[in-house]
Amino acid sequence: MSQTITFFLGGEELGVQGVSPATTLLDFLREHRGRTGTKEGCNEGDCGACTVLLAHVEGPENDLVYRAVNACITLLPAVHGHWVVSVEDLGQAPDRLHPVQDAMVRRHGSQCGFCTPGFVMSLAAMHLDGAPVEQAETYIAGNLCRCTGYGPILAAAGDSVAAPEDPAFSAKVHAAKDWLIARRADDDGLFYEHGDERYDAPVTLDALLRLRQDHPGATIVAGTTELGLWLNKDLQDFPHLISPTRVSTLTAVDFRSDGTLVIGGAATYEQAWPKLSQVIPEGQDWFERFASMQIRQQATIGGNIVNASPIGDGPPLFLALNAEVELASTRGSRVVPLAAFFTGYKQTELASDEVLTSILIPRRPENLQFAALKVSKRRDQDISAVMAVFAWQADGEQLTGVRLGFGGMAATPQLAGNTQAVLEGKALTPALIDEAVDTLASDFSPIDDLRASAWYRMEVSRNLLRTELEQTLASRGEAAAA
Ligand SMILES: Cc1cc2nc3c(=O)[nH]c(=O)nc-3n(C[C@H](O)[C@H](O)[C@H](O)COP(=O)(O)OP(=O)(O)OC[C@H]3O[C@@H](n4cnc5c(N)ncnc54)[C@H](O)[C@@H]3O)c2cc1C
Ligand code: FES
Ligand code: FES
Repeated sequence: MSQTITFFLGGEELGVQGVSPATTLLDFLREHRGRTGTKEGCNEGDCGACTVLLAHVEGPENDLVYRAVNACITLLPAVHGHWVVSVEDLGQAPDRLHPVQDAMVRRHGSQCGFCTPGFVMSLAAMHLDGAPVEQAETYIAGNLCRCTGYGPILAAAGDSVAAPEDPAFSAKVHAAKDWLIARRADDDGLFYEHGDERYDAPVTLDALLRLRQDHPGATIVAGTTELGLWLNKDLQDFPHLISPTRVSTLTAVDFRSDGTLVIGGAATYEQAWPKLSQVIPEGQDWFERFASMQIRQQATIGGNIVNASPIGDGPPLFLALNAEVELASTRGSRVVPLAAFFTGYKQTELASDEVLTSILIPRRPENLQFAALKVSKRRDQDISAVMAVFAWQADGEQLTGVRLGFGGMAATPQLAGNTQAVLEGKALTPALIDEAVDTLASDFSPIDDLRASAWYRMEVSRNLLRTELEQTLASRGEAAAA
């Protein structure tokens, strides 16, 4: 049971005490370790200037897994047990550059240079993952450059992606991996105190639930991609944080024998997607447009749901998939349909002693037609004006199991109940499509805000629904003609 934040940095083990648990990794690197290569741009996870890698080992073979994250919204206790790789760990001399740095120089991928360490770290993640060059835009979608332009940076990605490993960096990898393997078996949680502040990260569900019961005033923190902004931008205090992210059952993602997909309440979007994509391969675009890789490597689906934002991208999708959530406390656990979980603007069913422990997604029905459509001003790294997710079974003539999940249209993520009732069990015709599209106005009264006007939100939702229904109708016509 560690009371010291322990991690591997710069070739050695560091044990940290005497700093606030609300210290960000960015501030620690810059102010306590003089690692000023990692930059602060936005301080809210948007620009990627602070990108660093966190590495851990997993699986029976102790595979080394890297995650690119935004150090500005990563709390120092969250790196306990990890290898922290910042830009200083890549090449440091002009004649000893990492292949990614070398390619950035040769391709003129830097002008003012402020964004450059962040891009280099994202491209280093791509290089270490052995990802194909086609994924370069996915890797750098969370990095903003205001002066170079992205062409030279993408060219550098292309040049470096298949470059051999840098021997100097490989030596660091070996040392870090030995350290990670040696301490893997000993992880029995972190219980860190500094003055009146606490950060508890137990490794068992029992311990997590007991902490939740004994400290109802404490705040659960998972990926910090919401809470980090409340700290950095709203300057809120969180004197006692409790993290579920070290409980292995809460980060597991697996199918049950009945085909239900069970996503642990502390699994990140990147951890969940390999299995979730087996249920909804049509959701690839939705997934890639959820924030950036850095955010998806940290953001949990549980945090997205509990946050209950009306403009979150996950809740409408899970509503359309007829998901349930499991809520647990020392009193026991209960399963609540997601549609009953959201009770008002940013209000949920979660009691003060409960933790969201899993998201349950039923087996994909036969003949499911599914579409997840995000409307935002920018393609990447933007918040939705409208999120529309449509699911129905096209069995024979009729539509059944119709579920239409919407975000950005009401105070909570919500199903379009009246419109669903119009379509359910009916044979699709042009007249029925008109009726369904008209009924949508009775389900929602969206608001004007900086992302979109109420008129635009309603109009775009109607058009998305019409397009999907018309495509279903057309595909039936083609099937009948064949
Ligand atoms: C740059 C940026 C881009 C973003 N883009 C998107 C986007 O495209 N789409 C989108 O939907 N969101 C987006 N977000 C919002 C955010 O990433 C998501 O809401 C994320 O899923 C939150 O999860 P988290 O683990 O980081 O939550 P945290 O910040 O750790 O916690 C959020 C809330 O959930 C509670 N909580 C977390 N886990 C549990 C649990 N297991 N049980 C009980 N309570 C819990 C916490 O107490 C807190 O109130 C973005 C955020 C940033 C910073
Ligand atoms: S400083 Fe912009 S993402 Fe961290
Ligand atoms: S080089 Fe100036 S912001 Fe990218």
